[in-house]
Amino acid sequence: MAEGNYEFLQEKLDGFVPDTAVVLGSGLGDFTNALQDPIVIHYEDIPGCPTTHVPGHKGGLYAGVIGKHNVICLAGRTHLYEGLDPRYIAMSTRDLKELGVKRFIATNAAGSLRVDMPAGSLMMITDHINFSGRNPLVGFSKTPSFPDMSAVYNPELCQKVREIAKKENIELFEGVYAMALGPNFETPAEVKMFRTLGADAVGMSTVPEVITAINFGLDVLGFSIIANLGAGLTKEYVNHQEVLDNVAKTNAKLTLLLKKFMEEA
Ligand code: HPA
Repeated sequence: MAEGNYEFLQEKLDGFVPDTAVVLGSGLGDFTNALQDPIVIHYEDIPGCPTTHVPGHKGGLYAGVIGKHNVICLAGRTHLYEGLDPRYIAMSTRDLKELGVKRFIATNAAGSLRVDMPAGSLMMITDHINFSGRNPLVGFSKTPSFPDMSAVYNPELCQKVREIAKKENIELFEGVYAMALGPNFETPAEVKMFRTLGADAVGMSTVPEVITAINFGLDVLGFSIIANLGAGLTKEYVNHQEVLDNVAKTNAKLTLLLKKFMEEA
Protein backbone atom coordinates (compact mmCIF):
# COMPACT_ATOMS: atom_id res chain seq x y z
CA MET A 1 0.00 0.00 0.00
CA ALA A 2 1.27 3.47 -0.88
CA GLU A 3 2.49 5.83 1.81
CA GLY A 4 -0.47 8.20 1.82
CA ASN A 5 -0.83 11.85 0.94
CA TYR A 6 -0.26 13.58 4.25
CA GLU A 7 2.51 15.88 3.01
CA PHE A 8 0.67 16.80 -0.19
CA LEU A 9 -2.49 17.65 1.74
CA GLN A 10 -0.67 19.55 4.46
CA GLU A 11 0.95 21.77 1.85
CA LYS A 12 -2.38 22.45 0.14
CA LEU A 13 -4.03 23.26 3.48
CA ASP A 14 -1.41 25.97 3.97
CA GLY A 15 -1.37 26.04 7.77
CA PHE A 16 -5.04 25.12 8.28
CA VAL A 17 -5.22 22.32 10.88
CA PRO A 18 -8.53 20.44 10.77
CA ASP A 19 -9.85 18.95 14.02
CA THR A 20 -13.07 17.48 12.59
CA ALA A 21 -13.66 15.45 9.44
CA VAL A 22 -17.12 15.09 7.92
CA VAL A 23 -17.70 12.49 5.23
CA LEU A 24 -20.61 13.54 3.05
CA GLY A 25 -22.63 10.76 1.48
CA SER A 26 -24.87 10.65 -1.59
CA GLY A 27 -26.56 13.98 -2.25
CA LEU A 28 -25.12 15.60 0.90
CA GLY A 29 -22.42 17.70 -0.78
CA ASP A 30 -24.32 20.97 -0.09
CA PHE A 31 -23.11 20.86 3.50
CA THR A 32 -19.85 22.36 2.20
CA ASN A 33 -21.78 25.65 1.78
CA ALA A 34 -21.59 25.97 5.58
CA LEU A 35 -17.83 26.53 5.30
CA GLN A 36 -16.61 30.11 4.92
CA ASP A 37 -14.07 30.56 2.11
CA PRO A 38 -13.14 26.88 1.99
CA ILE A 39 -9.85 25.58 0.66
CA VAL A 40 -10.88 23.08 -2.02
CA ILE A 41 -8.73 20.14 -3.07
CA HIS A 42 -10.29 18.14 -5.88
CA TYR A 43 -9.91 14.38 -5.60
CA GLU A 44 -8.54 14.21 -9.14
CA ASP A 45 -5.58 16.40 -8.07
CA ILE A 46 -4.63 14.13 -5.14
CA PRO A 47 -1.99 11.59 -6.23
CA GLY A 48 -3.45 8.09 -6.49
CA CYS A 49 -6.83 9.20 -5.20
CA PRO A 50 -9.75 7.29 -6.69
CA THR A 51 -12.44 9.67 -7.94
CA THR A 52 -16.06 8.80 -7.44
CA HIS A 53 -18.37 8.44 -10.44
CA VAL A 54 -21.60 7.96 -8.54
CA PRO A 55 -24.24 10.60 -9.38
CA GLY A 56 -24.88 12.85 -6.37
CA HIS A 57 -21.28 12.75 -5.15
CA LYS A 58 -19.27 15.97 -5.48
CA GLY A 59 -15.65 14.85 -5.40
CA GLY A 60 -13.22 16.83 -3.24
CA LEU A 61 -11.92 17.96 0.13
CA TYR A 62 -13.40 21.23 1.44
CA ALA A 63 -11.63 22.74 4.46
CA GLY A 64 -12.84 25.71 6.50
CA VAL A 65 -14.31 26.91 9.77
CA ILE A 66 -17.77 26.02 11.12
CA GLY A 67 -18.62 27.25 14.61
CA LYS A 68 -15.76 26.41 16.98
CA HIS A 69 -14.14 23.93 14.66
CA ASN A 70 -11.72 23.62 11.79
CA VAL A 71 -13.56 21.21 9.56
CA ILE A 72 -12.50 19.18 6.56
CA CYS A 73 -15.37 17.80 4.51
CA LEU A 74 -14.88 14.82 2.26
CA ALA A 75 -17.53 15.56 -0.33
CA GLY A 76 -18.25 12.32 -2.13
CA ARG A 77 -16.75 9.05 -1.04
CA THR A 78 -15.59 6.12 -3.07
CA HIS A 79 -17.43 2.94 -2.22
CA LEU A 80 -16.13 -0.58 -1.96
CA TYR A 81 -18.68 -1.55 -4.64
CA GLU A 82 -16.72 0.64 -7.10
CA GLY A 83 -13.85 -1.81 -6.72
CA LEU A 84 -11.85 0.32 -4.29
CA ASP A 85 -9.11 -1.46 -2.35
CA PRO A 86 -10.45 -1.23 1.25
CA ARG A 87 -6.92 -0.42 2.48
CA TYR A 88 -7.15 2.92 0.64
CA ILE A 89 -9.78 3.93 3.21
CA ALA A 90 -7.41 3.10 6.06
CA MET A 91 -4.67 5.11 4.37
CA SER A 92 -6.81 8.20 3.85
CA THR A 93 -8.13 8.07 7.43
CA ARG A 94 -4.53 7.90 8.64
CA ASP A 95 -3.82 11.02 6.52
CA LEU A 96 -6.69 12.81 8.29
CA LYS A 97 -5.37 11.79 11.71
CA GLU A 98 -1.90 13.03 10.80
CA LEU A 99 -3.36 16.35 9.61
CA GLY A 100 -4.83 16.86 13.10
CA VAL A 101 -8.34 15.38 12.92
CA LYS A 102 -9.71 14.12 16.24
CA ARG A 103 -13.43 13.83 15.49
CA PHE A 104 -14.84 11.89 12.58
CA ILE A 105 -18.43 12.31 11.42
CA ALA A 106 -19.81 9.99 8.76
CA THR A 107 -23.04 10.62 6.88
CA ASN A 108 -24.84 8.46 4.36
CA ALA A 109 -28.10 7.72 2.63
CA ALA A 110 -29.69 4.48 3.78
CA GLY A 111 -32.77 2.33 3.46
CA SER A 112 -35.03 2.00 6.48
CA LEU A 113 -35.74 -1.41 7.95
CA ARG A 114 -38.57 -0.04 10.10
CA VAL A 115 -41.93 1.11 8.79
CA ASP A 116 -42.11 3.62 11.65
CA MET A 117 -38.95 5.32 10.29
CA PRO A 118 -40.09 6.52 6.84
CA ALA A 119 -38.19 8.17 3.97
CA GLY A 120 -37.09 11.65 5.01
CA SER A 121 -36.16 10.59 8.56
CA LEU A 122 -32.81 11.37 10.13
CA MET A 123 -31.15 8.57 12.10
CA MET A 124 -28.16 8.86 14.41
CA ILE A 125 -26.14 5.65 14.16
CA THR A 126 -25.57 4.13 17.60
CA ASP A 127 -23.91 0.90 16.43
CA HIS A 128 -23.26 -1.00 13.24
CA ILE A 129 -23.08 -4.45 11.68
CA ASN A 130 -20.30 -5.01 9.14
CA PHE A 131 -22.04 -7.29 6.65
CA SER A 132 -19.84 -6.23 3.72
CA GLY A 133 -17.45 -9.15 3.96
CA ARG A 134 -14.56 -6.65 3.74
CA ASN A 135 -12.37 -4.92 6.28
CA PRO A 136 -10.03 -2.01 5.48
CA LEU A 137 -7.57 -3.15 8.15
CA VAL A 138 -6.89 -6.50 6.45
CA GLY A 139 -3.33 -6.34 5.15
CA PHE A 140 -3.00 -2.65 6.05
CA SER A 141 -0.25 -3.10 8.61
CA LYS A 142 1.92 -6.08 9.40
CA THR A 143 0.78 -6.19 13.01
CA PRO A 144 -3.00 -6.15 13.47
CA SER A 145 -4.12 -3.72 16.15
CA PHE A 146 -7.37 -5.55 17.11
CA PRO A 147 -9.33 -2.34 17.81
CA ASP A 148 -12.04 -2.51 20.47
CA MET A 149 -15.48 -1.90 18.97
CA SER A 150 -17.67 -1.84 22.08
CA ALA A 151 -18.53 1.88 21.93
CA VAL A 152 -17.80 2.93 18.35
CA TYR A 153 -20.21 5.88 18.14
CA ASN A 154 -18.90 8.08 20.95
CA PRO A 155 -21.56 7.99 23.72
CA GLU A 156 -20.79 11.51 25.02
CA LEU A 157 -20.93 13.07 21.56
CA CYS A 158 -24.15 11.14 20.83
CA GLN A 159 -25.65 12.56 24.02
CA LYS A 160 -24.66 16.07 22.97
CA VAL A 161 -26.33 15.53 19.58
CA ARG A 162 -29.53 14.33 21.30
CA GLU A 163 -29.63 17.50 23.39
CA ILE A 164 -29.07 19.74 20.37
CA ALA A 165 -31.72 17.91 18.31
CA LYS A 166 -34.21 18.37 21.16
CA LYS A 167 -33.40 22.05 21.49
CA GLU A 168 -33.66 22.65 17.74
CA ASN A 169 -36.85 20.59 17.42
CA ILE A 170 -35.26 18.14 14.99
CA GLU A 171 -36.82 14.68 15.04
CA LEU A 172 -33.91 12.30 15.49
CA PHE A 173 -34.22 8.52 15.22
CA GLU A 174 -31.47 6.29 16.57
CA GLY A 175 -30.44 2.87 15.45
CA VAL A 176 -28.09 0.24 14.14
CA TYR A 177 -26.70 0.60 10.61
CA ALA A 178 -25.94 -2.54 8.63
CA MET A 179 -23.54 -2.36 5.72
CA ALA A 180 -24.14 -4.47 2.64
CA LEU A 181 -21.46 -4.39 -0.06
CA GLY A 182 -23.90 -3.48 -2.87
CA PRO A 183 -24.14 -2.13 -5.49
CA ASN A 184 -27.57 -3.77 -5.80
CA PHE A 185 -30.28 -2.83 -3.36
CA GLU A 186 -31.40 -5.63 -1.06
CA THR A 187 -33.94 -8.32 -1.80
CA PRO A 188 -37.00 -8.46 0.49
CA ALA A 189 -35.47 -11.59 2.09
CA GLU A 190 -32.26 -9.70 2.83
CA VAL A 191 -34.23 -6.81 4.32
CA LYS A 192 -36.01 -9.32 6.57
CA MET A 193 -32.65 -10.84 7.52
CA PHE A 194 -31.15 -7.46 8.48
CA ARG A 195 -34.22 -6.68 10.58
CA THR A 196 -33.88 -10.05 12.31
CA LEU A 197 -30.22 -9.33 12.99
CA GLY A 198 -31.21 -6.17 14.83
CA ALA A 199 -30.43 -3.50 12.24
CA ASP A 200 -32.62 -0.42 11.74
CA ALA A 201 -31.13 0.83 8.47
CA VAL A 202 -29.06 -0.61 5.64
CA GLY A 203 -26.59 1.05 3.31
CA MET A 204 -23.45 0.48 1.28
CA SER A 205 -20.88 2.68 2.99
CA THR A 206 -19.63 4.22 6.24
CA VAL A 207 -18.60 1.08 8.13
CA PRO A 208 -15.13 0.80 6.51
CA GLU A 209 -14.15 4.39 7.29
CA VAL A 210 -15.59 4.15 10.80
CA ILE A 211 -13.52 1.02 11.49
CA THR A 212 -10.40 2.88 10.40
CA ALA A 213 -11.35 5.97 12.42
CA ILE A 214 -11.64 3.81 15.55
CA ASN A 215 -8.35 2.15 14.68
CA PHE A 216 -6.67 5.56 14.65
CA GLY A 217 -8.28 6.64 17.93
CA LEU A 218 -10.76 9.20 16.55
CA ASP A 219 -14.09 10.05 18.21
CA VAL A 220 -16.83 8.94 15.83
CA LEU A 221 -20.39 10.03 15.07
CA GLY A 222 -22.58 8.71 12.25
CA PHE A 223 -25.84 9.80 10.62
CA SER A 224 -28.12 8.18 8.06
CA ILE A 225 -30.59 10.07 5.98
CA ILE A 226 -33.38 7.64 5.36
CA ALA A 227 -33.99 7.74 1.64
CA ASN A 228 -36.46 4.90 1.23
CA LEU A 229 -38.05 1.94 2.94
CA GLY A 230 -36.17 -1.31 2.42
CA ALA A 231 -37.35 -3.64 -0.33
CA GLY A 232 -40.47 -5.58 0.60
CA LEU A 233 -41.56 -3.09 3.29
CA THR A 234 -43.48 -1.14 0.67
CA LYS A 235 -44.93 -1.89 -2.76
CA GLU A 236 -42.60 0.68 -4.33
CA TYR A 237 -39.27 -0.30 -5.87
CA VAL A 238 -36.03 1.34 -4.73
CA ASN A 239 -34.08 3.45 -7.22
CA HIS A 240 -31.10 5.79 -7.00
CA GLN A 241 -33.00 8.88 -8.19
CA GLU A 242 -35.59 8.42 -5.44
CA VAL A 243 -32.71 8.10 -2.98
CA LEU A 244 -31.22 11.44 -4.15
CA ASP A 245 -34.61 13.22 -4.15
CA ASN A 246 -35.40 12.15 -0.59
CA VAL A 247 -31.91 13.01 0.63
CA ALA A 248 -32.30 16.49 -0.86
CA LYS A 249 -35.50 16.94 1.20
CA THR A 250 -33.83 15.88 4.47
CA ASN A 251 -30.49 17.57 3.88
CA ALA A 252 -31.47 20.76 5.68
CA LYS A 253 -32.22 18.92 8.95
CA LEU A 254 -28.82 17.26 9.03
CA THR A 255 -27.01 20.44 7.99
CA LEU A 256 -28.68 22.38 10.81
CA LEU A 257 -27.93 19.67 13.36
CA LEU A 258 -24.26 19.47 12.36
CA LYS A 259 -23.83 23.24 12.27
CA LYS A 260 -25.27 23.60 15.77
CA PHE A 261 -23.12 20.70 16.93
CA MET A 262 -19.98 22.44 15.63
CA GLU A 263 -21.06 25.64 17.40
CA GLU A 264 -21.79 24.01 20.74
CA ALA A 265 -19.60 20.94 21.16
N1 HPA B 1 -30.24 -0.19 0.62
C1 HPA B 1 -28.90 0.02 0.60
N2 HPA B 1 -28.36 1.22 0.45
C2 HPA B 1 -29.16 2.27 0.32
C3 HPA B 1 -30.56 2.14 0.33
C4 HPA B 1 -31.13 0.84 0.50
O1 HPA B 1 -32.36 0.63 0.52
N3 HPA B 1 -31.08 3.37 0.19
C5 HPA B 1 -30.03 4.22 0.10
N4 HPA B 1 -28.87 3.56 0.18
